[in-house]
Order: sequence, then structure tokens, then C-alpha cells
Amino acid sequence: MKRIKKWGIAFLTTALVLTTAACSQNTSSETKGSSEPKTEEGKTYNFKLAHITPTDHMWHKAAEKFKEELDKRSDGRMQLEIYPASQLGTEADMVQQISAGSVDFGFITAAYLSSRAPAFTAWFAPYAFKDLESANAARDTDVAKKILGTLDDQGIKGLDYLFAGNRVMLFKDKEVLKPEDMKGIRFRVTPSPPLQDFYKSLGASPESLPLPEVYAAVQTGVIDGMDMDLDATITNKYYEVAKYGAVTNHMVWPAVAMMNKNTFDNMSDDDKKIIEESIKAAAEYAVTTRSAQEEEFKKTLSDAGMKIYEIDQTLFEPYMKQFDEKYGPTDPLIQEFIDTFRK
Ligand code: BEZ
Repeated sequence: MKRIKKWGIAFLTTALVLTTAACSQNTSSETKGSSEPKTEEGKTYNFKLAHITPTDHMWHKAAEKFKEELDKRSDGRMQLEIYPASQLGTEADMVQQISAGSVDFGFITAAYLSSRAPAFTAWFAPYAFKDLESANAARDTDVAKKILGTLDDQGIKGLDYLFAGNRVMLFKDKEVLKPEDMKGIRFRVTPSPPLQDFYKSLGASPESLPLPEVYAAVQTGVIDGMDMDLDATITNKYYEVAKYGAVTNHMVWPAVAMMNKNTFDNMSDDDKKIIEESIKAAAEYAVTTRSAQEEEFKKTLSDAGMKIYEIDQTLFEPYMKQFDEKYGPTDPLIQEFIDTFRK
């Protein structure tokens, strides 16, 4: 019975992806390989965008803002359909679909990307930025843009970064007050080598789990805690299963806004500009809105019964150094990033 159910789900997922691919080819992919002049005006697009978060998370709101901006700036020529909450599969599936062109856009975690384009590891240098605004300002630097460029050879145009809250640590029933208290804790991290290494260096046992599997894993005691952001803690109701929340802000958490490169390359210069300016407006909206919510989110979680507290950043200094020494020499862009932002 279980087997039949499993095959049924696999069949439906494949059917959805193929349907999506077919739809997209009738729409945005019209432009691919076309001999039409690049300056052509009036072309219409029906784009698709996929991401992992629930619809009340800031990344989804940013996707809605992007949709609105595309519509407004193109006078209705660019329409966007959004597939939230892993509807099109895992992040690995989504990136594959974007690379193939069956999906046009994605907001994909830099954490996942670090396993297929290692320069994205740079963003996980612990405590590289003093706050969310400084991380957001880093979007416009040379090194951040060069890191986006490392996606080119995968058929992907890295457009920009979206910041919607730094990382915090949640614990099911142990109040962790210093790095040494992490010893032996089974701690969920997003599947990503630099995150696993950071928590290993703290003495924890990192468990790679994608977002949709986290709630059940804490609830059933498979894990003792998780690396998360405050927004997802609320939208995924982790406050129901974790008693303690250390607002460490130890790492930033960029989503990479990306697009099928062929589709982008075949657009007119004016249309490219519409894409770039629309995503920029969405990224600015996300960071501004999210920054203003920090205190409100902490209060929501305290009111829901969690103990919310801070851990002194200086206790993590040896681990910051370990990270820099391990990853800086692996990639010139990671070294450049550390040299630029580590003050
Ligand atoms: C996570 O894997 O922890 C995550 C992914 C996307 C948004 C927020 C959190």
C-alpha cells in the first residue's frame, strides 16, 4: 500500500513538472533562440517563479512584490505565476528546472547553492555583518556580484540577493547559553557544507534536514534544536515544539533571486532592465519590512511561550577564526569576501 502511495506521489510530481515545462515553453521560452531583434518592444511573458517558504514568509511576500513591479513596469506585458512552499519540489529540483528553462525564476537559499557553486559559502562566514542592513548593503559590492556570476555556467543568471532576517538557534528543551553547551546536541541545519562545519566546530552533531521535514523531527525528538530564522520560526510554528530561542544573529540568510540565463540573455535591453529593477524593488521591500519586524517577532515568540534570549557574540570568536582559516584558502572569492567584510 505504502509502495503504491509512494509511486502515486512520484507520478503526480513528475506530471506537475512536465506540465509546468510544457506551459513555460508556450510562454516565456518563446524568446529562447529567437532571431527577433533585441530591441523589440511589446513582447509578452508569462513567467513562473518557485521558492521553498510558506505564503506568510517574507520571501513569498517579496515574490508578490516582484510580480507587482513586473506588471507595473512592463505595462502588463510581464506576468508572473508564483509556486511557493516547495510545490515544485526540493530546492535541488527547482534549480534544475530553472537551469533547464521549465521554470523562469527562483528564490533559492544561498545555503543550498553553496553545495553546487562553492563561492556562495562566503555568505556563511559567522558574524561577518553587524546587522541586517549592513548585509543588505553588501548586495551591491563587486564580490557579491562576482559570486552571483559563478552560476553562469549552470545556465542560471544570478540577479540579486534577498535578505529577510538573520539566523538564530532554537532548542527543544535545553537552554544553551554558550557555545560549549552545544556539545552533543543533534542540531538541524539546512543541507549545506559550511553550516555543517560551523556546528561541528561548536561540538554539535549537525543533521541536514530540508525545511519541510523540520517540525516533525523536533516534535518526535529526532533532533534537539535547529538553525532557523525568526520569520520561519513563526510561519512554521516551531514555537510549538521548541522552548528556547537564542537570537544569535550569527549568520545572514540570503535567498538568491535567479533566472534562466537563456531567457534573460534573449530579452531586449529595456526588458532586462525591468527584470533587474523589479527584483531590486522586491529585495529593498523585503529587507526594510523585515528589519522593522525584529522586535515584534521576538515578542510574538515570547507570547507564544518561548524563552527568547541573546548569547554574547565574543564567545564565538574562535569559531569565526576557524571558519575563515578553513574556507578563505578554498576560493579566491571567499577570501575576498572575508577581507572585504570582516572588520
Ligand atoms: C531553512 O532551511 O532554514 C530556511 C529556508 C528558507 C527560508 C527560511 C529558512
